[in-house]
Amino acid sequence: MAVDLLLGLQWGDEGKGKIVDVLTQNYNLISRFQGGPNAGHTLIFDGHKHVLHTIPSGIFHKEAVNVVGNGVVIDPVIFNKEIDDLSKFDVDFKNVLLISRKAHLILPTHRLLDAASEKAKGKDKIGSTLKGIGPTYMDKTGRNGMRVGDLELDNWKEIFENLTQKHLKMIDFYGVELDYNLDELRANFFAAVDKLKELTFIDSEEYLHTAIKENKTILAEGAQGSLLDVDFGTYPFVTSSNTTAAGACTGLGVAPNQIGEVFGIFKAYTTRVGSGPFPTELFDEDGATMAKVGHEFGATTGRARRCGWLDMVALKYACQVNGVTQLNMMKADVLSGFETIKVCTAYKYKGEVIEHFPYNIEPENVQPIYTELKGWKEDLTGMTSEAELPAALNDYIAFIEKETGIKITIVSVGPDRKQTIER
Ligand code: GDP
Ligand code: IMO
Ligand code: MG
Repeated sequence: MAVDLLLGLQWGDEGKGKIVDVLTQNYNLISRFQGGPNAGHTLIFDGHKHVLHTIPSGIFHKEAVNVVGNGVVIDPVIFNKEIDDLSKFDVDFKNVLLISRKAHLILPTHRLLDAASEKAKGKDKIGSTLKGIGPTYMDKTGRNGMRVGDLELDNWKEIFENLTQKHLKMIDFYGVELDYNLDELRANFFAAVDKLKELTFIDSEEYLHTAIKENKTILAEGAQGSLLDVDFGTYPFVTSSNTTAAGACTGLGVAPNQIGEVFGIFKAYTTRVGSGPFPTELFDEDGATMAKVGHEFGATTGRARRCGWLDMVALKYACQVNGVTQLNMMKADVLSGFETIKVCTAYKYKGEVIEHFPYNIEPENVQPIYTELKGWKEDLTGMTSEAELPAALNDYIAFIEKETGIKITIVSVGPDRKQTIER
């Protein structure tokens, strides 16, 4: 099959960037299909660390072409900054980074609207990355948005201005104080658009269909995670796109019968950044250890990530919604040293024991029920083969495989490209 998918199964930051980079050697094309610069995908190799926000994580492999699909939302200012950050890598952007004309643009006022909405919500805020994601997707589905293809029209500045003026009225509606200089924002946006226009815009669905006909191999890179999906996540504490497998079809224009492997990627524990329910969240020493050892700070916003044990109920749900065919377990090294490893295998839901992911997982309804497994002490970070893995980790892996019915084909034991064990 032509198109494989790689998706996060938790609340994002599972390590998608690292694994896409590792897998790129097997593919001709890497394509992002949803989300925008709310994503932060970290790649570490040869002593370099890179955080990509909109550019697909295949960009460091010279032979691969990277496509930003129609389902992505692009902030030209952030996009150019990402390109500048890659300047020392001698990337032939014109030929290896192609942008869908149908991708929507994040205007400066989308970001202001995001900030106004969050401010107005007060303590009930989503904990948005404030990159303008929600308002941009609202304009897309509301049929008011501005697309990359519009930048090829003579009157694109008029389209921009009409939308900006509409947004300013909406900002007034929120009635909150925001500090901004519109002239400066507009000038930065225009300068960034001029640079963006030096890149190649394509009809990406046509391009991908041609690639499929030519038997090229394609890996679709998800952003965020399944529990942040606008339909299947912990609504309203979600992002505004379909982060799950179906989002790859709409976000690239590929048909379901063209999808092959679905790589589901998860941390050996769980993290979440921003607001919203998190049944296995830890507020004790164990959670603090995970945060410290795992360096759990957001790649986009620098915010501290909340940490907790693996939630098998949520993981099985995510496997189901996505049709996962292979699991990749990340950050196994972070759990070295715990006496026991806990896994939530059921919820106590309104007094009853359930094993499915219910409509509402707010703490007043859901309490985790744990199974305990033996921990391991060994440092995994220097291990390079399955044979070296400690017995207790193998038991943990076998437990997860049995619960999900899906094989774990990659175990990641450190942030570097090389710290990856295939099974
Ligand atoms: P993404 O958004 O899914 O691409 O993930 P992020 O890059 O936001 O967050 C994952 C973080 O974990 C990054 O800092 C990675 O460098 C790091 N990381 C990835 N895999 C591993 C691993 O196996 N072990 C450790 N210790 N860190 C990892
Ligand atoms: P990657 O691709 C983790 C979270 C935000 C917030 C909610 C809505 O790096 O895994 P938004 O800005 O989309 O309106 O925020 O979603 N969020 C992420 N959390 N990783 C991400 O991306 C995220 N993108 C958004 O923290 O709770
Ligand atoms: Mg991230």
